[in-house]
Amino acid sequence: MGKGSDPKIEYLFKPRSIAVIGASHDENKIGYQILRNIRAGGYSGKVYPINPRGGEILGLPVYSSLAELDEEIDVACIVIPAKLVFDAVKDCAQHGVKFILIITSGFSEVGNIEDEKKIASYAREHGMRVLGPNIFGIYSAATSLDATFGSGKIMPGSVAIITQSGALGAAMIGKTAVENIGLSTMVSVGNKSDIDESDLLEYLMDDQGTKIILLYIEGVKKGERLVKTLKEATKRKPIIMIKAGRSKRGAMAAASHTGSLAGADEIFDDIMRQCGVLRAESLQEAFDWCKFLANTPPPSGENTVIITNGGGIGVMATDACEKYGVKLYDDIHTLREIFSWVTPGFGSTKNPIDLTGQATSGDYDSALDEALKSDGIKAVIALYCETALFDAENLPTMIERNYLKYKSEGKPLVFSVFGGDATENCITSLRKHNVPIFADIYAAVSCFGAMYSYYRNSGARPERIRDVDVDIDIDAIDHIVSQAIAEGRYFLLAPEAQNVMRAAGIAIPESYLARNLDEALRRAVEIGYPVVMKIVSRDILHKSDVGGVALDLENREEVIDAYQAIIRNSKARQPDAHIEGVEVSKMVESGMETIIGARRDRAFGPIVMFGLGGIYVEVMKDVSFRAFPLTRVEAMRMLKETRSYPLLLGTRGEERKDIDSVVKTIIKLGAVIQRCKDISDIEINPLVVYDHGKGVEAVDVRILISESKRGKTDE
Ligand code: COA
Repeated sequence: MGKGSDPKIEYLFKPRSIAVIGASHDENKIGYQILRNIRAGGYSGKVYPINPRGGEILGLPVYSSLAELDEEIDVACIVIPAKLVFDAVKDCAQHGVKFILIITSGFSEVGNIEDEKKIASYAREHGMRVLGPNIFGIYSAATSLDATFGSGKIMPGSVAIITQSGALGAAMIGKTAVENIGLSTMVSVGNKSDIDESDLLEYLMDDQGTKIILLYIEGVKKGERLVKTLKEATKRKPIIMIKAGRSKRGAMAAASHTGSLAGADEIFDDIMRQCGVLRAESLQEAFDWCKFLANTPPPSGENTVIITNGGGIGVMATDACEKYGVKLYDDIHTLREIFSWVTPGFGSTKNPIDLTGQATSGDYDSALDEALKSDGIKAVIALYCETALFDAENLPTMIERNYLKYKSEGKPLVFSVFGGDATENCITSLRKHNVPIFADIYAAVSCFGAMYSYYRNSGARPERIRDVDVDIDIDAIDHIVSQAIAEGRYFLLAPEAQNVMRAAGIAIPESYLARNLDEALRRAVEIGYPVVMKIVSRDILHKSDVGGVALDLENREEVIDAYQAIIRNSKARQPDAHIEGVEVSKMVESGMETIIGARRDRAFGPIVMFGLGGIYVEVMKDVSFRAFPLTRVEAMRMLKETRSYPLLLGTRGEERKDIDSVVKTIIKLGAVIQRCKDISDIEINPLVVYDHGKGVEAVDVRILISESKRGKTDE
């Protein structure tokens, strides 16, 4: 393999040969178990156990080193102690290895970052890619390769699992067997020293053998690339994700709200939604979705009908549909026409269709047949509550028969059945046949929720940001920022931040810097009362905290009093502060107060935030996030995701607010953070939003310099 050129990722999934470095004679060692699984799995390529002790393991001749082989090896699986790994990697480079799986632990996960980096960069320099270290191995159905140390046999199928946790990966093998889920591949990425989820997704999104991808992630390293890859991949197949770590630990420094308002998990959640990823709450939910989506045809539209024999469970299913975003068919006339002949007079043909407690399996057959025939009904949730009147022995056959009919006609159907032994047994036996059936109504409807999220996402048209929206004067902004850097500051003064807004084409209230009281009085008259005054100091970021803000000043006397108070307060609270003067600005008219932020996230790079602003921002924490690329549609979705969105639409007789200007401002702020690498955070709070057509105004703007540039006067 040529120096520096990457091998084709295909060889990782379809290797022609594999060497196990550290193949052990001892049945209790991982090096033995991996070899045993490779043999037992029926791998069709060549297998070379490597161990200086030589001999024979599992009937295979053992080679003392790679040097003994006179052919190039596609995959080398390393299972020797950490201190020996680098030498083994060097050996691999000598003998044309393409991919190295490092099972060994004892690297960055225990603080040994240096050795891990050394190995990964050596491998890359020598044209090899590394999976791991600290992994549990790889399974690939394409070549029947089970190079893991899992204890059970893996069933081939169409679900790909990528897992950061090896231990969980091993457990997932057992779980997939119980759930009867077949795998196309299972890859443990471990410490992700080189190969990460994005590399694997790039291959798996086009892999014919993979219908669904399940990702278990603990932390994101190269978030910008992951977002890009996920966006591509979710257009081709459903991606289900479980992410551990919902704690706030990853939240950024509290200097800006954009960093502190939400923990890393909220940001992650929003960005995954933006990518079209289906994020499961629990492992069970993730497996339910996998199994369901693998065995259910995609819907052709949104109208779902619930068919039930109990009113209560029908209502619960309706609630669940609301929770998971499943739209119910509500054309009551058509529903009556379709279902009246199968529903007793005391039942209901309004959705849910209530066949009542006297329904038999024949009634279910008839109702489900009608729903299948109807073009308007796109999917069905069938519920069953155990009753003495039902011919229970027919339950499993009725369900399976209808499921198969629906499947062959291409219409989604899910069952939720609830009752005693007979019902439970029915669930157990049908789940083995991959019939979508659940005891819990919410679990059943959650599968429909995932199916429709994917349906909506894959049907969405791609969209671009028009250049006109991001016509900003980047040179002017860079100039302002570099001046602040030259002065060793970590944030921009208010007049500078306002100039950034001007350069970005974001409206701000008329405003001037007054260096003394006379100037403040003159500016107040020029602007027209009432005015607002705020301290301007390179040493004071939080102006209100030092008593450096006065609002709604109506006349000359109030301006004099406020000016003196602001200077006095600021000096009292921060005696060493260098005071540039006082900012005098127009008191803005009242409108809806929102907050818009943009910052450079450690995992995802540039991100933007929108939410309800003003003084309630801390309490409400009603915010949403997006990564890039950011389209108008996505910016609009951010607005819609907040609980305050109805306020923008106008509530209680109020006018609709200027939503378009909010969207434009988000896009502009996003463009600034993307292009001006020396800015780490921008926050407009409040961005006052006026009635439709009347625009927005950035009343208070806070801009922070990137940490790497802070205090650097020589650049
Ligand atoms: N090349 C090939 N084989 C070598 C070797 C070399 N340079 N150096 C040693 N070996 C052989 C040993 O002789 C031994 O074979 P033997 O049992 O037949 O004598 C075998 O490789 C294993 O070496 P050993 O020193 O016995 O290590 P071990 O099996 O006790 O532990 C690991 C090795 C990799 C399993 C261990 O270091 C480790 O990291 N365990 C954790 C793995 C893990 O959990 N990974 C993450 C999963 S999520």
